[in-house]
Formats: sequence, structure tokens, C-alpha cells
Amino acid sequence: MKVELSQAAPAEIEADLLVVGLYDGEELPGELASAPGAGDAQGAYKKTLLLHPERPSRLLIVGLGKRQDAEPERVRVAAALAAREAKRLKAESVAWALPESGDDEATATAVVTGTILGGWSFDRYRSKDPEDPAPPQVESLTVLADGALAGAVEAARVCAEAQNRARDLQSLPSNVATPSFLGRRARSIASAHTTVTTDVLGRKEITEKEMGGMVAVSQGTEEEPQLIVMRYSGGGSGPTLGYVGKGVTFDTGGISLKPSGGMQEMKMDMSGAAAVIEAVDAIAELELPLDLIAIVPSTENMPSGTAIKPGDIITQYNGKTVEVNNTDAEGRLILADALAYAVELGAERVVDIATLTGAVMIALGSTYAGLIANDDELAGEVEEVGRETGELVWRLPLHPEYKDLTKGTVADLTNASAKRKAGTIYAGSFLEEFVGETPWAHIDIAGTAWDVGREYTGKDASGFGVRLLVELAHKLAG
Ligand code: BES
Ligand code: ZN
Ligand code: ZN
Repeated sequence: MKVELSQAAPAEIEADLLVVGLYDGEELPGELASAPGAGDAQGAYKKTLLLHPERPSRLLIVGLGKRQDAEPERVRVAAALAAREAKRLKAESVAWALPESGDDEATATAVVTGTILGGWSFDRYRSKDPEDPAPPQVESLTVLADGALAGAVEAARVCAEAQNRARDLQSLPSNVATPSFLGRRARSIASAHTTVTTDVLGRKEITEKEMGGMVAVSQGTEEEPQLIVMRYSGGGSGPTLGYVGKGVTFDTGGISLKPSGGMQEMKMDMSGAAAVIEAVDAIAELELPLDLIAIVPSTENMPSGTAIKPGDIITQYNGKTVEVNNTDAEGRLILADALAYAVELGAERVVDIATLTGAVMIALGSTYAGLIANDDELAGEVEEVGRETGELVWRLPLHPEYKDLTKGTVADLTNASAKRKAGTIYAGSFLEEFVGETPWAHIDIAGTAWDVGREYTGKDASGFGVRLLVELAHKLAG
């Protein structure tokens, strides 16, 4: 989408649809207040009213609620509602008059984010009717605001478009979005940016490197596993950041097979990978001044005659042994190798993001992702960035007593305890064994990657984590 700024007065703007955000009990700005029907406008949160003044031809008023409750989240929601209305009206160009908020940068960012995310849909597999061509999309957004906001508006566009690409990856079926497909996407990002390189290890290299978790999970599938390593060199003086994203392109559970009802949703068990890969693309496009190592361990988790069996013992990349008591707890096995590898390659602060446990959905629903960290400062940065972008995270504790759950009976660790206690923390506590002393934060997005239901994320793929990871890189850049 083309996004630009204009200092024109709202009534002067040429656009198929002009959108104005209105606070409860307030009047429309300038000449718009005297437009026919303007008196009916209400500022109640999420209430919309479409008017047809002479200029511009269509005016959409979106309620923002009480001014004292103003926050960027409400603007993202309002912008997404407007984007949907624009689609219905077949408007190709939209202009947005920024509501006053005291923080124009955050408000403009929210308008761009909500418009781009709100307009996303995944319909490439629907047959096209030649008699009924696809409706036009919103092609351009003009934000009526000061030119000083150009940088913020451009960054918001880059991040939201990256998030929509992550949603495409999440939505693609597992027969298309295979580990090799993700590897090709990572390679194409490297060919688009001189600052990015991508190396991909296949089954042979993974086995030679003795990445026991990757070997174990991928031994049941014919699909070639991929350990994708992307490096971004943006310079700056800060420590090297490491991002790791779970890339299970389909999780059947393996021999510990999942029930068949709803299993199709497990095509999105690569949502962490999608977030990391597209965040790297956005970080490179924005030329953020930091060095970053991003690792995506990617494989299918399938049952077969060669699949790993409950009770089998493996050796992870860092030498720790694990009893695989449940083959459906596969994410932690591949992340363990990837985390140890990220630290070995020089990551000095590591953040992993993964659809790791059903338990996080029980605890936090789709509103907050789970956060587990061995470092208060890094955890605080992730929480703060999440509040800014609306990708909320809630920190869960680590404690030595949880560590007891991860102890194996005959090996160092077990990937699943017989006790159904603290499933999300257990998984985090397991991962902690693979980062040594490196500051590390783990984000469990099993509840927030899909079916969030906010106006700008919809009911399918949410792309959770892309804006969070880009903003975090921005914040941590030296
Ligand atoms: N991919 C799942 C987690 C998941 C569940 C993601 C629901 C999205 C929605 C993960 O690999 C898994 O199966 N975890 C098990 C772990 C258990 C066997 C210890 C779980 O959460 O049930
Ligand atoms: Zn699983
Ligand atoms: Zn999984």
C-alpha cells in the first residue's frame, strides 16, 4: 500500500473515502462539523457513521470513545474498521484525519498499522469468477499530518506489511509452506538486501553437526528439515541480538498423535518462524543499526516407521541428554538446538518465539502471549515494546521447583513430565537449559498466533510478533 502524508485540510482532500476519528461528545474538525448529518455523529468507541457531504464525497466517522481513555490500540481498531468499510465501498484511496492525542507519532503509526492489517485477507485459493472480478483493494492511504511524521509513517508501513506477509506464511497449507519453502523465503530476503545473508542446513548437515533435537523430530518425515540461519549486519555499537522462531510446518504430534479434530490448525505451528523471518526483512528494509542472528529450526512432526518413539533418549546440540517421553512436545527439542547454536554463533541476547504449549492458551487466552525470561532487563524491554505495539506479553515465573519437573529419570532432562503442572513454565524452564548465562526471553504465542479476534488481526492468522520483534531490535540497537 502506498502511504503518504498531506497537510491539506480534511475537506480539501481528494480521496475515495475520508476517515475521521471522533472522541465521545466532541465535534468534527473545521468545515466537516457543518456537513449534512454531522450532528448525528457519535464518538462512542467502534461506532461508525457514513456521510455523503459534497466534498469529500464520502466521509466515515469512527468513534474513539472518551478522550481520557485514548490509546493507540483504539486507533488501530478504528483504522481497521475503516479499512473494512473502505473495502465494502470499493474505495481505492483513503485519507485519515488524525485525532488529537498529544502523541501524533504514536497515533499516525496506529492509523497506518490498523489500515494495513485491517485490509488483509487470504483468498488466493478461491476460484476466481471471470464474470465477477475481484473487488478493488485500498491502494493508497494519505495521513493528514505534519511532514515530520514521515519516518514514523514509513516504519509503520514496513512493519505492518511484514506482518501481513507473516500472516500469509501462517495461512499457507503445510503441503505448500514446507521447511524448504521457508528456507527459500529466507534466501529471497538475503537476495533483496546486501546486509542479509542466509545459510540453510539440510538433513545431512544437521546430522553431521549432531543437532539431536532436530534429527529426532525430523526423522519421521520425508520432508527435508531446514535449519535456517539469517544474519543481518546493520552495525551499531550494541550487542549482537539473536532471534529464534519455531518452524514446525505441521505438528501431528508424532507417535504421541494428536486427536484429529482441529488438527488442520497445526499448519500454523511455524508462526514463530514466520514472525522471525519477516521481522528480519523489515529490520533490513529499515536499516536498523544493529547486528542480528536469526535462526529458524524447521521440520514437520510426523508419525512413521522411522519416527522417534516415547522413551527414546537423544543428545541435544549442547551435549545434554533428553528422554523424549512425549513426541508432541517437539518444539522444545528443536528450539533447544537452535538456542544453543545461536549462542555459539555469537548472539549476546536471545529472544525466541514459538507456538509452544496449549497450556498458555488456557492461562492467558489470546490476549497475552506468555513471557519467560532469565533476565529482568530484557523481560522489561519485551513487555514495554509489547505494550506499545499491542502485542501484549505477560511474564510467568521461573523457580528451581519447576526445574525439578524437567529432570529425566535416566537422562539429564525429560521433554514432558507425567505431572500436568505448569505446562508453559515447564517448557520455558527446559529451554533455559540451552542458553547458558546469556540473557534470554521466550515468548509463547500458542494462544495469540491465531484466532485473536481483534478488529485488526481478524479470526485467522494474526502475525503476532513481527512488530514486536522489529520494535525490540529498534530499541536494543546501540
Ligand atoms: N504445537 C503444540 C502447541 C500448540 C497447541 C500450539 C495448541 C497451538 C495450539 C506443541 O507442539 C504441543 O503439542 N505441545 C504439547 C506439549 C505437551 C505434550 C507436553 C501441549 O501443549 O499439549
Ligand atoms: Zn506438538
Ligand atoms: Zn508443536
